[in-house]
Amino acid sequence: QSVTISVPATSANLGPGYDCLGLALSLYNHTTVTILEGDRPHIEPHHPMVEAISALFFQQPDVEEAPFPFSWSIKGDVPQSRGLGSSVTVRLGIMMGLNELCGRPLDRERLYALCSEAEGHPDNVAPALFGGFAVASKEQRFRFPVDDRLKAVILIPEYEVQTAHARTALPESVPHSDAARNTSHACTLVSAFATGEYERMGAALEDFLHQPYRRHLVPGLFEIVDAGVDAGAIGGYLSGSGSAVACLTTSGDPAAIASAMQQELAKTGATGRTIVVTAD
Ligand code: HSE
Repeated sequence: QSVTISVPATSANLGPGYDCLGLALSLYNHTTVTILEGDRPHIEPHHPMVEAISALFFQQPDVEEAPFPFSWSIKGDVPQSRGLGSSVTVRLGIMMGLNELCGRPLDRERLYALCSEAEGHPDNVAPALFGGFAVASKEQRFRFPVDDRLKAVILIPEYEVQTAHARTALPESVPHSDAARNTSHACTLVSAFATGEYERMGAALEDFLHQPYRRHLVPGLFEIVDAGVDAGAIGGYLSGSGSAVACLTTSGDPAAIASAMQQELAKTGATGRTIVVTAD
């Protein structure tokens, strides 16, 4: 018995929405989970993240099945450690696969809570599970559909950034004035998504909680964003904790924006590729 689950890539933070905003993208990983013969509950291949999410699933009181042996594999286009939610595609893919094979004992809200707990923050999990643009916290989540006019041009550098490492770059506290400006930008951004007035989010993609402290992890970050804006993007930001950089556009030419971003990355001595996606 086997099941395949498709989970979209996600771009979290969107500038000022540190740990609480995320966008599902039309880029996917497909996870296949297959029940193996026998009773000994082993997992093939061995992988710490898969073992942990499987253990969490089988611990749930609503899951009546005892842990069973299974194999898993992932195919797809979501690159690892680039700030595009690849770990969520693994965690959700495995947990939803097991959930299907057990007759869906957990509903989507429970899957959301469990995978957010495993991730440590819900900003990729909410859009990956429910689609669109998400405002996500532990207590609540909101989903806003996103129309196809909005395109994300994503520059994916050749190098990786580990989220755990990128989180150590953040300060213990920030000035009150920065927090106030960040709140204003986050509210503006949510309003732009809620009303579909994407063109009005522009300057609101600037943030004061994480990008200024992570800029050294992606050399040329702000120059890449500025180049995208000069080429017609509404604005841009570090996707999740990087290394990918996203520029959003409605009426701009995605190819011209991609080329401008790529040229700016080249100035730093790094290489990378660009993709153009819409929201899922
Ligand atoms: N919001 C988290 C961070 C996860 O910025 O560290 C990003 O994928």
